[in-house]
Amino acid sequence: MRTPAASAPAVRWRPEKAGEVNSTNDLLLERARRGEAEGLAVWATSQRAGRGRMGRTWLSPPGCGLYFSALLRPPVPPEQKPLMSILAGAAIAEALAEIGGLPVGLKWPNDLRLDRNKVGGILCEYEPKGGPVAAVVVGVGINLRTPPGGYPEEIRGRAVSMEEAGCRIAGEEEMIEALLSRLGSWYRDFLTSGFEPLRRRWEELCDGIGRRVTLSLAGGRATGTVAGIDAAGHLLLEEASGSVRSIDAGEIAEP
Ligand code: BTN
Repeated sequence: MRTPAASAPAVRWRPEKAGEVNSTNDLLLERARRGEAEGLAVWATSQRAGRGRMGRTWLSPPGCGLYFSALLRPPVPPEQKPLMSILAGAAIAEALAEIGGLPVGLKWPNDLRLDRNKVGGILCEYEPKGGPVAAVVVGVGINLRTPPGGYPEEIRGRAVSMEEAGCRIAGEEEMIEALLSRLGSWYRDFLTSGFEPLRRRWEELCDGIGRRVTLSLAGGRATGTVAGIDAAGHLLLEEASGSVRSIDAGEIAEP
């Protein structure tokens, strides 16, 4: 008979509120370098230099969004870094849907979407950048009340705020608590039971499975149908030839 895996301990979250900062991710990366224990989470009223994926800027004025980062120290090898990003996406999507009262979809790797428009994003960064994972900083930005003209040019018309979409918006503290609680429970589940339950949940939440997309990759482009994600957290793209390609990094452009 198989003995069930011992349950991983729950994360003891220590949320802290900050005023205006450069970037909550930078703040936590610095604290991680100085030896901060897992569980610190910082949310800011605004960010002077909010960062998004692919070197983009994440506009973070006061009153428009939720800007926060959480520090974890997962005992995982470097090749499992993409799993943390998938984990964060599924956890935040579930929590946001529960708070807001509308289904939140995922676009690989972890864009949060309402009706296929971006309502938030996640930037996972590691300390150190290469080699074994000592710490991961999960940075989350949610459009709460951003006006339609308040997004960067490249995403205008494809982004939405929770307010505009008709979601319920809770107070910041309630939202942070709900998001951290779901993040902590999926993290514990992952450390106890492995990636497979999370992989299946992420696919259920993904709003693009079966859709034809074009991806920008470091070495060019790829076109095909989104088939899901694999055990490494990579995107599975079914190409015209019928072969399924596993893609570790890239950006999905809608057709
Ligand atoms: C994306 O490009 O979709 C990811 C955006 C992540 C933005 C958040 S806001 C809080 C945290 N601090 C940052 O500088 N970035 C992340």
